[in-house]
Amino acid sequence: MDIGHIRKDFADHAPLTREAIADDPFDQFTRWFDEALASAMPEANAFVLATATAQGQSSQRTVLLKYYDPQGFVFYTNTESRKAKEIAANPQVSMLFPWYGLQRQVKIEGHIEPISREQTLRYFLSRPKDSQLGAWASRQSSVINSRQLLRQQWAKMKEKFRDGEVPLPDFWGGYRIEPHAIEFWQGQPSRLHDRFLYRRDQAQTDWLIERLAP
Ligand SMILES: Cc1cc2nc3c(=O)[nH]c(=O)nc-3n(C[C@H](O)[C@H](O)[C@H](O)COP(=O)(O)O)c2cc1C
Repeated sequence: MDIGHIRKDFADHAPLTREAIADDPFDQFTRWFDEALASAMPEANAFVLATATAQGQSSQRTVLLKYYDPQGFVFYTNTESRKAKEIAANPQVSMLFPWYGLQRQVKIEGHIEPISREQTLRYFLSRPKDSQLGAWASRQSSVINSRQLLRQQWAKMKEKFRDGEVPLPDFWGGYRIEPHAIEFWQGQPSRLHDRFLYRRDQAQTDWLIERLAP
């Protein structure tokens, strides 16, 4: 199959203009995030998180956005996973929301920090019990011999925490990405796409807004 010929002209969306976009990138993000959630697109809160080792070897994976505010974007994971090790060695990360269904992407670069145990606990307690047990059952990113082992571990945890609340594992937690650059990309006909980049000014107080060539 010749995939070189796969091509789609982006036609259905109004152009992005400086007048139309919000002055604050979080307001702009909220506009687009709400539209993504309201659309038929699956997993609109999924984003691709890129981390890199201290030596610069990058890796990526999908995670779910669980909270955001003007301080940043929060997700949860195993704190002994590959991504967590890379974050500990190098807290500069990037994230991408690939909203192809809307002919959009949002690209974010920033600094990542663990969130408080209190906030993590609040979220953990709001999860279904099966997901809580899942967090206990899996040493994320480690090599395992079989799926059976995973199921056995899950059953063991189910038995162990049969009564009462499932405690928060000390190897599970949330991270917040505090952005210094956020780019909004809107597909347009003839490859003349719209891109607006918000980046922190020198004093780290205001956002500068620039149009980028597609
Ligand atoms: C749609 C989707 C959502 C996911 N959400 C999460 C998540 O919120 N947290 C998480 O730790 N892994 C999530 N994963 C699994 C990760 O992509 C990844 O396999 C896992 O975190 C291990 O990554 P690492 O070995 O690079 O640390 C998700 C995967 C998919 C496809």
